[in-house]
Formats: sequence, structure tokens, C-alpha cells
Amino acid sequence: MKKYFFLSIFLFQLLLTQACVPDGNVTKLQFMPDMADGPVAKVLRSYLDPPENSVAMNAIFYPESPEEAEQVLESPYYNQRHLEEKLQDGKKLYGDYCTPCHGKLGKGDGTITDKYPRPPDITNDYYKEKKDGFFYYRIVFGGDLMPSYGHAISNIERWKIVLYIRKLQTLD
Ligand code: HEC
Repeated sequence: MKKYFFLSIFLFQLLLTQACVPDGNVTKLQFMPDMADGPVAKVLRSYLDPPENSVAMNAIFYPESPEEAEQVLESPYYNQRHLEEKLQDGKKLYGDYCTPCHGKLGKGDGTITDKYPRPPDITNDYYKEKKDGFFYYRIVFGGDLMPSYGHAISNIERWKIVLYIRKLQTLD
């Protein structure tokens, strides 16, 4: 009787090892299906491929030059919806971060320019020709003399400032 008892324990253990040792060539014998194989877990695991050229919302992308930024970065504000609100936000942000050097209208006549090198007029024809990505890049990285603001101004705020600079460029 004892013999059969040990034999059955042995067979049971054999069954368990078969169930647990993964081997690419053998169909796994599943002793106790658990949550890992449940239908919910499977749905979560097999997501669709993201659409082409899409970037995760919190992804950080650093173009290597203003030229590259002009090529690859596009303002999310291609439509005119809520334009006034975005411009108001842009005006406020520009006022907080850029006015001290660039002046209220972007002419380069900010209040600290007697102590700091005077920036160019960013509303002139040269800067009107520049694409949005150029201004975005400058906000993130600054310039030779201009400080960078990538750490302080969020992605969406940068585009709002760019939008406002575009508005300033239409004023004269
Ligand atoms: C502390 C002063 C200062 C502040 C603040 C500042 N800038 Fe500048 N900026 C400069 C100076 C000086 C230059 C010219 C030299 C250089 O490119 O570094 C400049 C240049 C620029 C240029 C032209 C760059 C080029 O390559 O021709 C742009 C565009 C610009 N700034 C945008 C901004 C924006 C937008 C803000 C606000 C987020 C800002 N700046 C804040 C000082 C400043």
C-alpha cells in the first residue's frame, strides 16, 4: 500500500514538473491556468502598433540643430480653434520669459538690454521666414548668449509662445 502511495506522489510530481518547465518544443501541460492566461491579461498585452510617425505624449525629442528642428517639428496649432485663448496664454508666457530681453513687441528692446547683449528683432523679415520649429528649438536650447528654457517651459507652452511670436510678426 505504501509503495503505491509513494508511486502516486512521484507521478504527481512528474506531472507538476512537466507543467512548469518551459520547453520550446513541448506543448506545455497546464496544471492550473492562472490569471496570466486570462482573457483580460491577453487583451492588455497585445496592443496595436502605434500609427506611423507617432510619438508618445511624454517622449523627449531633441533635434540637433535649428535646421533639423525646422524640418521635423510641427506646431500642434495648425488649426484656428480657440486661437484667442492660445494667444492669450502665449502672450502671458512670452511676457514672463522673453520680454525682459526681447521687449514687449519682440524688437529686442527689453528692459535689461542695457546690461545684457541686445537680442535681434525677432519680428523682422529674416525671422518671418523661419519655420515654427526654429523658435521652438531656441526656446528649448537658447543660443550663444540666450539662456535655454527647456527646463522651465513645457512642450505645449513653447508652442503657445511660438504662436504669439507669429502674431507679433504680423503687427508691423
Ligand atoms: C536673458 C535674455 C534673454 C531672454 C530672457 C530670452 N532671450 Fe532670446 N535671445 C537673447 C539674445 C542675447 C539673443 C541673441 C544671441 C543668441 O542667439 O544667443 C537671443 C536670440 C533669440 C532668437 C534668435 C536666435 C537666432 O538663432 O537667430 C530667438 C528666436 C529668441 N531669442 C527667442 C526667445 C524667446 C522665445 C524667449 C522667451 C522664451 C527668449 N528668447 C528669451 C536673449 C534672451
